Amino acid sequence: MKFYLGTILNPKSDTECGRIPSGVLVVSGAPGRAKIEDVLSIEDAQKKYGKSMRSSNTFDFRDSVILPGFFDMHFHWVQDEVRTMPKDSLLQWLERYTFPAETKFSDPEYSKKRAKIFFERLSKVGTFGGAVFSSIHEGALTAAMREAKGDFVIGNVLMTMNSPAELTQSEDAAIGLTRKLIKKYGKRLAFTPRFAISTSPRVMKEGARIADRARCFKQSHLSENRDEIEFTLKLYRGMPGFEKVKSYAEIYEQVGMLGSRALMAHGIHLSAAELKVLSKTRTAIVHCPTSNAPISERGLGSGLFDFKMTERAGVRWALGSDIGGGPVLSMFDVMQSFVEQNKRAGVKGASCIKALYRATLAGAEILGVSNHAGNFRKGKDANFLVVPRAGGESSDARDNAEKVLARIFKKGALDRDRQDSLVKLSVFRGKVLERKS
Ligand code: GUN
Ligand code: FE
Repeated sequence: MKFYLGTILNPKSDTECGRIPSGVLVVSGAPGRAKIEDVLSIEDAQKKYGKSMRSSNTFDFRDSVILPGFFDMHFHWVQDEVRTMPKDSLLQWLERYTFPAETKFSDPEYSKKRAKIFFERLSKVGTFGGAVFSSIHEGALTAAMREAKGDFVIGNVLMTMNSPAELTQSEDAAIGLTRKLIKKYGKRLAFTPRFAISTSPRVMKEGARIADRARCFKQSHLSENRDEIEFTLKLYRGMPGFEKVKSYAEIYEQVGMLGSRALMAHGIHLSAAELKVLSKTRTAIVHCPTSNAPISERGLGSGLFDFKMTERAGVRWALGSDIGGGPVLSMFDVMQSFVEQNKRAGVKGASCIKALYRATLAGAEILGVSNHAGNFRKGKDANFLVVPRAGGESSDARDNAEKVLARIFKKGALDRDRQDSLVKLSVFRGKVLERKS
């Protein structure tokens, strides 16, 4: 057994976050397979485990906060290079920067090299689960599958129309690759039409059927940007079978892309009728605040996601970084941006506790892995990170979880590009992946 001492924060819901100011996270099992054994106060730990707590297996982080590993429910691992490229409009940014960057992943050797670097960094910022977009290329997907550490579903994007020649597949090739990769990876493979603009309805329909049969996740982008929505509707209304389509969400509904294992990134400009369809089908939205943020904040300026309306409609949602639409890999940045943008807009209820829940357990719930990940409970995987407590070092006994988190977020916001330095220790299934002194 190993004992980690610190202020333990344990997200449970939008309004509840467990907090033990002088707590102990007890971990048992071999590194790589270790589980949470117990979460309790130091006094209780000394009573219960006193004899087994020795200097060799006890790690004192009483000046720090211990949090469960993150779930990033939407990002493009092949867009690491364009995170900070100039952003004006979504469709232009895709053409000018993103597509050329993704084209490089046609080279399996390049893909291997980049995957090693990217997923190592992802572990260092404490992200151990989520939903990932890769490029169209099989080699890039293989590399990501090999390097990703945690509960990830990963998909090769499918692009069969309105795309640059180098990134355009035939419909049969797209469907064939879907079959092949589902056979190879099973439920780890997510069926991933890039968005309705780039993937033909036949491919979405056949692929969604194959994915459903294998109980795989399906993911895409929905209603991110007004120009995108307008173009999508015009495009589909000109196609047989879609002449009378009323909305973007209805297009996905018609081709079978919605459902309880469906993830739709963004969902910013949705009508009440669309939210109703998402709710009825149990489709989840992935909100990516740093990607949607104003261009001056290095986002794509897509707008502010209405989490209240979404929740009122009974639609499940979680947070994502949308790398490279979002500029920063750390979920601390994503949480901070969610809180800050809503505060600025005068929207109440976007608390730090809510942000933490939506960046951890909510993602695990949506992915169906909350029985073994997402927060701290006996028997769950020992995935956690240790973050120095920011400011107020002496007053933590009186601080609540909201204040502790707010200070950490604020510290990260001061230097967005160095947020990986927030994490002092990152542990995956009991194995230490990052340690800073
Ligand atoms: N819509 C279609 N593709 C993309 C992408 O790569 N990034 C974002 N943010 N939106 C998209
Ligand atoms: Fe995206």
